[in-house]
Amino acid sequence: MKKMRRTVIISKAHFGTLADGTGVDVWTVSCGPLVLKALSYGGTVQSLEVPDRHGRSANIALGYDSIERYVAGTTYFGALIGRYGNRIADGRFTLDGMTYQLPVNNGPNSLHGGDRGFDKRVWDIEPYAKGEDTGLTLRYVSEDGEQGYPGRLTVKVDYILTRDAQWRIDYAATTDKPTLANFTQHTYFNLTGAASGAAVHDHELRLAASRYTPVDADLIPTGELAPVDGTPFDFRAGKALGHDIRDSQQLLNAHGIDHNFVLDKGITAAPEPIARFTDGTSGRTLTVSTTEPGVQLYTGNFLDGSGYRQGAGFAFETQHFPDSPNRPAFPSTVLRPGQTYRTSTVYAFGVF
Ligand code: BGC
Repeated sequence: MKKMRRTVIISKAHFGTLADGTGVDVWTVSCGPLVLKALSYGGTVQSLEVPDRHGRSANIALGYDSIERYVAGTTYFGALIGRYGNRIADGRFTLDGMTYQLPVNNGPNSLHGGDRGFDKRVWDIEPYAKGEDTGLTLRYVSEDGEQGYPGRLTVKVDYILTRDAQWRIDYAATTDKPTLANFTQHTYFNLTGAASGAAVHDHELRLAASRYTPVDADLIPTGELAPVDGTPFDFRAGKALGHDIRDSQQLLNAHGIDHNFVLDKGITAAPEPIARFTDGTSGRTLTVSTTEPGVQLYTGNFLDGSGYRQGAGFAFETQHFPDSPNRPAFPSTVLRPGQTYRTSTVYAFGVF
């Protein structure tokens, strides 16, 4: 995308008030061609404006217009997710011989950090600036025992916009006791436009993942890292999201795609490109890079009654694999005192 010289603007306004009287702010960051709005509630990205092939900007992130809807919602629109993105079977895990019980909020499992995870907390936000980049720094301290997780976890997340249309997310955390950390970002994208009414099934995806983690009826991995060859999960050569979406028992369990892919590059010190989405209607493209070993592709299968229909957006949640704490063969999500959790993901926009 062409570099645009536009003044960097960061501003803050009142968005709403929680039942306990806490005020929630909406921050607006504009840099180059992108305009991002984020709430102090959940670190939620409420909207992200991106130009199409004619240079016309539109919001491409699904969101709500009132705090009440975010508080009541279970869709995780735009939210920061922690302490554990994705599912932990039966909400239970054992660490150093101690067993911990987490809130069960998704069938028999714990999903996205429990019923009051990072997405339902108020974050401290301040402007971020480095060189030509601009954005927000979000901070939250999760107390020892919060949502059943051990250790006081100090979390910092940077939302960084670059002048060449990248949204970079840098996550960092430290703990005072052994615990779990597996954060992600739950924006639902619709590259045609969040208000377009178009389903994302026509978006094309090319994804560098030769394996995925098949799941049981409750969407918990079976433990197998199965080849995508000959399955609907083979996006290596590029195909429409909806192309094979009705084609297997795996997809029936999830009402569409709601699966973790094992990225061929594995864990990397710096973000490496893993995927590219293209939308023929708007000409927008989204290239995703990450340090993480996995990504959950969720095609908005359970959206309904939220003001958006099934398939109105897709989430692309870079992360470690689901239920890792109960799967010693999966890359570890344990964080110990003295270590710093660090991961980064970049959503880079363009046109074709
Ligand atoms: C999960 C879905 C879940 C959704 C909640 C996704 O990350 O994989 O199963 O329904 O979040 O909106």
